[in-house]
Amino acid sequence: MAGPIGIFDSGYGGLTVYRSIQELLPEYDYLYLGDNARTPYGNRSFETVYRYTWECVRALFSRGCRLVILACNTASAKALRSIQQRDLPPLEDRHRVLGVIRPTTELIGEYTASQQIGILATEGTVASRSYPIEIERFFPQVQVIQEACPMWVPLVENREHQSAGADYFVQQHLDRILSRGPRIDTLLLACTHYPLLHDKIRHWTPDGIKILTQGKIVAHSLRDYLRRHPDIEAWCSKGGQQAFWTTESPAVFDPRASFFLGNRVADQQWDQ
Ligand code: DGL
Repeated sequence: MAGPIGIFDSGYGGLTVYRSIQELLPEYDYLYLGDNARTPYGNRSFETVYRYTWECVRALFSRGCRLVILACNTASAKALRSIQQRDLPPLEDRHRVLGVIRPTTELIGEYTASQQIGILATEGTVASRSYPIEIERFFPQVQVIQEACPMWVPLVENREHQSAGADYFVQQHLDRILSRGPRIDTLLLACTHYPLLHDKIRHWTPDGIKILTQGKIVAHSLRDYLRRHPDIEAWCSKGGQQAFWTTESPAVFDPRASFFLGNRVADQQWDQ
């Protein structure tokens, strides 16, 4: 049976990836799940991020998704490998879960001339060292400087990303990473919430430094993946339907998600 492509994030941030995927591949059905009741994940332990992520992935499976994208770097860094290697093989029906780190690290070395890249991410993603490890495999000559920005997700989740407070925290972390990496010519927003802060990040970043977001990279990688795997592509239903699901109350989720996505969202609540 074919079903929607599941897109998961700890909250609203994954909508930035979802939007790029849906724009590039509008023919498929999608079900977005935000774990807004338990966001942020960025400062939680490995075990907790894994447990929450696997619960949400199973919930998407139960709604007919057989292909799920973790549109969340923290979940991709802390839970994806366990899910792929330990949880999926024993399942009766075949399922696939893909993350956002691999598609990004496969390409990122092509953007830098100075061979020094800055990674802006949550504490969890930084501590996992997933980016330096993966980039080393594809681009061993590239030096990676990481900076954890623990206030940035709460700013976005609370719709404070255009406030003066956001300027303070954005400038603080950019100053820190650029002083540690004076040759950085490419900054990756390695958290799917951060594109909402893009204008502020651009404002506090010297001209000439590129700022990369992941939406289009992940969307193109998914398109290639579906072309290369026609058996998995056949699992994905094509009706152009979009549905949203949250662990929070829809009264909280809908107006904010509509704001982030730029069009109206009406969702259903998942009762855990
Ligand atoms: N949007 C998520 C990411 O890409 C994590 C945000 C959070 O829950 O801390 O890392």
